[in-house]
Amino acid sequence: MEILRIENLTKIYGKGENEVKALDNVSFSIEKGEFVAIIGPSGSGKSTLLHILGGVDRPTSGKVYMDGQDVYEQNEEQLAIFRRRYVGLIYQFYNLIPVLNVVENMTLPVLMDGRKVDNARLSELINILGLDKRLKNLPNQLSGGQQQRVSIGRALMNTPAVVLADEPTGNLDSKNSQEIMQLLKESNKKFNQTLIVITHDENVALQADRVISVEDGKIVRDERIRRA
Ligand SMILES: Nc1ncnc2c1ncn2[C@@H]1O[C@H](COP(=O)(O)OP(=O)(O)OP(=O)(O)O)[C@@H](O)[C@H]1O
Ligand SMILES: [Mg+2]
Repeated sequence: MEILRIENLTKIYGKGENEVKALDNVSFSIEKGEFVAIIGPSGSGKSTLLHILGGVDRPTSGKVYMDGQDVYEQNEEQLAIFRRRYVGLIYQFYNLIPVLNVVENMTLPVLMDGRKVDNARLSELINILGLDKRLKNLPNQLSGGQQQRVSIGRALMNTPAVVLADEPTGNLDSKNSQEIMQLLKESNKKFNQTLIVITHDENVALQADRVISVEDGKIVRDERIRRA
């Protein structure tokens, strides 16, 4: 079953001579439960693509359909609800709230959505992410890798239909990196979550069902590695 479809997505930043075409007429479709890796050189448009998929950055033109719904047809309020219900976005640079501690950052999206925090899942994630001694720390009291792990916990707390991860292991050593990938893959299998991961790490890309290569804002390859 198709969960996500994009049609002719184009994103242009800036105007006149400062204009940058970050995405150039990109189309593809992703099945529910699929694990897709997105690879490509720095500046090729990967983060831009992920942000548009996640409902946080409007395309200049083109469509994004999530579960058949035209994402950017919604008004800002509907879009905010959509993001909280459907999407777990792990940002390349974490985007934690500076005045909230680890637990508060992780539970904020669930609370904002008026739902009850699943304390068992919270404890489980805190343990797997190795954050149990850092619960009351603010983001600026954490290492880069720890902040990255909090942002992963925040995305997974929601049990979103789609997890969008921008270099989720970018700040981690190989052991921690493998643990994080294990966590994302387990969540992908257990909840039949769709998992889209941007990575520069070949070891991460090779764990995916499918690898999409982006260059200069275009898709230059789209390969299935294994059956989803
Ligand atoms: N807010 C913005 N304003 C202007 N230009 C932008 C903005 N965000 C991204 N760009 C430009 O769009 C292009 C694509 O950027 P993007 O962040 O999507 O690349 P990326 O593939 O994620 O790179 P990296 O691997 O370094 O994270 C780049 O040329 C970048 O400079
Ligand atoms: Mg990026």
